[in-house]
Amino acid sequence: MTMRDKLDLLEKRRAESELGGGAKRLEAQHAKGKLSARERLDVLLDEGSFTELDRFVTHRSNDFGLDKERPYGDGVVTGFGRIDGRLVYVFSQDFTVFGGSLSETHAEKICKIMDLAMENGAPVIGLNDSGGARIQEGVVSLGGYADIFLRNTLASGVIPQISAILGPCAGGAVYSPAITDFTFMVRGTSFMFVTGPNVVKTVTHEDVTMEQLGGAETHGEISGVSHFTSASELECLEGIRALFRFVPSNNVDAPPRGAGTDPRDRRDEALLDVVPDNANKPYDMHDVLKRVIDDGEFVEVQKDYAANIIVGFAHLGGDSVGIVANQPAVLAGVLDISASLKAARFIRFCDAFNIPLVTFEDVPGFLPGLTQEHGGIIKHGAKLLYAYCEATVPKLTVITRKAYGGAYDVMSSKHIRGDYNIAWPTAEVAVMGPKGAVEILFKKEIAESKDPAKATDARVAEYTEKFANPYVAASRGFVDDIIDPRDTRPRLIAALESLRGKRAKNPPKKHGNIPL
Ligand code: HXC
Repeated sequence: MTMRDKLDLLEKRRAESELGGGAKRLEAQHAKGKLSARERLDVLLDEGSFTELDRFVTHRSNDFGLDKERPYGDGVVTGFGRIDGRLVYVFSQDFTVFGGSLSETHAEKICKIMDLAMENGAPVIGLNDSGGARIQEGVVSLGGYADIFLRNTLASGVIPQISAILGPCAGGAVYSPAITDFTFMVRGTSFMFVTGPNVVKTVTHEDVTMEQLGGAETHGEISGVSHFTSASELECLEGIRALFRFVPSNNVDAPPRGAGTDPRDRRDEALLDVVPDNANKPYDMHDVLKRVIDDGEFVEVQKDYAANIIVGFAHLGGDSVGIVANQPAVLAGVLDISASLKAARFIRFCDAFNIPLVTFEDVPGFLPGLTQEHGGIIKHGAKLLYAYCEATVPKLTVITRKAYGGAYDVMSSKHIRGDYNIAWPTAEVAVMGPKGAVEILFKKEIAESKDPAKATDARVAEYTEKFANPYVAASRGFVDDIIDPRDTRPRLIAALESLRGKRAKNPPKKHGNIPL
């Protein structure tokens, strides 16, 4: 055979490796509104940047007819490419090959790129579309999953790991995305569940659809398993690219700088009128955030889950920041179990990857009640407290209105290593709201008075005057300054810059024991 003959053979085999499960299965994939494994990579990665590895790998199984079918690639396309010029490692499961099911060799291919990503300090993006463990292979397939779970865990906090669910993801397979940092789902075509509707029916006698049990909306709004919900695969893949405008390649590199041109000293007149005069009236904290961050560009994480707290990424003076903000427009911005979990995980991601935290605070406290107490608000709220306490990245806090009770301590207060804490003149830093305080402190006096309503009002006015303001906190140095709201952006940018060289460390230890 001449070199040219050999090259022809190589070309033929390469072409064969790109066929996946064949034209008919590909057609079925498209008919469901899904892209193929390779088409997805074309959208995700910079044009022409993908380098494939292991395209000729085949499975080693001979049972249940598998000896007659050994497609190249074994149901997953793996390799590396670029997003906005930055290196990422990727795997993309091919549902047209044995339903994208995970065999021993399929797992080995994924593990290989995970190992390379760790060695080279680059993120891993997994595009999941799989029927789960390759049923014909049995335990070696389960072993393959465990090999991936271990790598997910060891890579956590070292390199960003992103999962897109672009088809089924069932059984133990869900635990790889669950360990990764961000999970993306697509409405109508993504499903994640530990057991499918049939098993649910047998065990709990509940009739549920795939969508109800584990569709994108279920996990985006109810369970909080997913972080981003998209209307289409294209939107989902573009969403992953957008996330990388804020996220560094690893825990040592700096996050990318924003390309915006928003002036650093921009004041915003509208900030004067965002907070209503009546302290019990809601307002949308997004209106504050958008006027402060660069070009109003905010990538919100878990937008539809626990909307009483807002988390997401932005640039501030070009620096990538993680924003955590109470949302007075939903449940008065109260901290409940879901909000605590959502924010705690986000804070830990930002801290692990050196993304400074900017907190906007307007919080009436933790949500009271049986459901919350029985659900463990104590241990879940403690996760948020723990996450803020252990975070050593620059921490900036703006108190726009209420900073009441334990929630005052938790929301990145000075006492737990907040670096720059400022308050608007509308801030109320107190143990609780004036009315609640008066009802406890002056219960007897009010009950005995001739006009209880008048007596209450007088005491409320007194308490408000004394405590429902930022001056007591400022007199102690618990807030660094009280500012004109219009100056919020330039103030935060100046502080962020001053903290670029921050060196804070926690005591050496194997690891802490976050209240799980
Ligand atoms: C081998 C599989 C497969 C699997 C699907 N296929 N799942 N082959 N192992 N796990 C094959 C099918 O035989 C079929 O082959 C092709 O993929 C497409 O599957 P369909 O059923 O035709 O597709 P669809 O109707 O879209 O249904 C998709 C599905 C269903 C919902 C994923 O295939 C399904 O329920 N699969 C089994 C899921 C499962 O129970 N997996 C094990 C979970 S336990 P042909 O040749 O006809 O195209 C698990 C444990 C992990 O994963 C543990 C980790 C710790």
